[in-house]
Amino acid sequence: MRELALNVLDIAENSLAAGAKHIAIALTADFSAGRMRISIEDDGCGMDEKTLAKVTDPFTTSRTTRSVGMGIPLFKYSAESTGGSFGIRSVKGEGTYIFAEYVIGHIDRMPLGDFGGVVLQLVTMNPQVDFTVTVKCGEEEGVLDTREIKEILGDIPVDAPEVRAFLKDYIRENLVRLYGGRL
Ligand SMILES: Nc1ncnc2c1ncn2[C@@H]1O[C@H](COP(=O)(O)OP(=O)(O)OP(=O)(O)O)[C@@H](O)[C@H]1O
Ligand SMILES: [Mg+2]
Repeated sequence: MRELALNVLDIAENSLAAGAKHIAIALTADFSAGRMRISIEDDGCGMDEKTLAKVTDPFTTSRTTRSVGMGIPLFKYSAESTGGSFGIRSVKGEGTYIFAEYVIGHIDRMPLGDFGGVVLQLVTMNPQVDFTVTVKCGEEEGVLDTREIKEILGDIPVDAPEVRAFLKDYIRENLVRLYGGRL
């Protein structure tokens, strides 16, 4: 079964391809309302209105190697198939905001999967990009802000092997711990 974390990776890869310098990823779970929401916001190149109108349709893509882009349609479907919702806003030259909201208990809701692993991969594979990752779960909130981390690290690059173990622990303690195995 596919994991929602892989959808997050797909959408963040679009942001990277769009030349984003900062990507904000937010995961919010409200267990009393039975809903969870994932959003990805970037300051990349954005889309013109024509592309934006077609982007949720799998037969639109700027790829030249094949004619079907599936990242956004799959993300949209993953939410709507649970009775949740999907939305996208984009402004050419400014950036893009995408969200998906899920009914947590719906039988078709895919498991979140290795969200922490995806965050670790994005941060360490793209040291030139800054990420703000926020997890909100009930009253608890945890944040990974790579600008803060890079300040603490000083001259040590965020993709240095010894930093990986630190980041892995940081992500586990500040983000993954909040929802535990519940999503
Ligand atoms: N964050 C973004 N900023 C600017 N353009 C975007 C962004 N996300 C998507 N797009 C545009 O929308 C198109 C469709 O995206 P989508 O992820 O659905 O497919 P793809 O990236 O082309 O292919 P795939 O994800 O299947 O490898 C992209 O090719 C790109 O032109
Ligand atoms: Mg894509």
